[in-house]
Amino acid sequence: MNFPDYRPRRLRKNENFRRMIRETKLSVDDLVYPLFVVPGKDRKKPINAMPGQFQMSIDHLLKEVQKTKELGIPAVLLFGIPDQKDETASGAFAREGIIQQAVRRIKERVPDILVITDVCLCEYTSHGHCGMIEKGDVDNDTTLEVLAETAVSHAKAGADMVAPSAMMDGQIMAIREGLDEAGCESTPIMAYAAKYASCFYGPFREAAQSAPQFGDRKTYQMDPANGDEAIREMTLDVAEGADIIMVKPALPYLDIIRRAREEFDLPIAAYNVSGEFAMIRAAAQLGWLDGERAMMEALTSIKRAGADIILTYFAQDAARILGK
Ligand code: PBG
Repeated sequence: MNFPDYRPRRLRKNENFRRMIRETKLSVDDLVYPLFVVPGKDRKKPINAMPGQFQMSIDHLLKEVQKTKELGIPAVLLFGIPDQKDETASGAFAREGIIQQAVRRIKERVPDILVITDVCLCEYTSHGHCGMIEKGDVDNDTTLEVLAETAVSHAKAGADMVAPSAMMDGQIMAIREGLDEAGCESTPIMAYAAKYASCFYGPFREAAQSAPQFGDRKTYQMDPANGDEAIREMTLDVAEGADIIMVKPALPYLDIIRRAREEFDLPIAAYNVSGEFAMIRAAAQLGWLDGERAMMEALTSIKRAGADIILTYFAQDAARILGK
């Protein structure tokens, strides 16, 4: 069908036509809201490059989780920032660690929202890397044991799902085995499968105080130039037992989300990361963009690319708009 027989504008004439033929519908069901938790009481510190986001002690966190649930969002993703960091990331798997305490309190006080925990070590190591350092680099296999122990401690505290983000080879297998041995065989794993060495994590590293003290993350996170390698990474994670595979960041990697959708029949998650959030917020604050529309357009594009689940700092704001 060609012009003038076919005129695509016919079905764009008004909002009712557009509504009827709309292909992608963002829903509150798709969203996960990330939150940052710190030890102590009555602490709520704004994060500089992430306007509207805070580091919160558990008392404030509980209110935020309750609000998230009331907005109809099905899940939160927790990041912990401990008071003490050390070489061995001992705060990551401690029974009284910040995440373990936060999960237990949420489960007591705000039932009926999923609690997902980020399983990584960079917030807990004094050097800020995602694993154990040996001979000046992150040692893969010793890190696997610590990641598995961390994931088990989260699941034992009550986490509904664990989300390993350290990008160590074999981490999904190690964590799956650890969970199964600990009797947590029903705890699913959302694998940060294709996680790129991205500058878009900049605002997060301030929020989580997790910038590496030397070097960078390029020996474990992926090269932004690679697409086929993302498929290999995802294939490995699926084989090792991932229940959900994630692409991160989202907007600069929509092609990877689309390829993941076409190659795998598992649920696909995409992480709309801190830098993507900051860009839109900053432009909106300067009056250079309509912040709400930019947010909805960006989130819709992530879903259109093929994501079933979108992790985003916009979750509450988007849920408010979607609920209208
Ligand atoms: C932990 C982790 C990071 C993010 C999520 N988990 C930071 C990093 O890898 O440096 C980034 C999230 C964001 O930027 O919003 N490793």
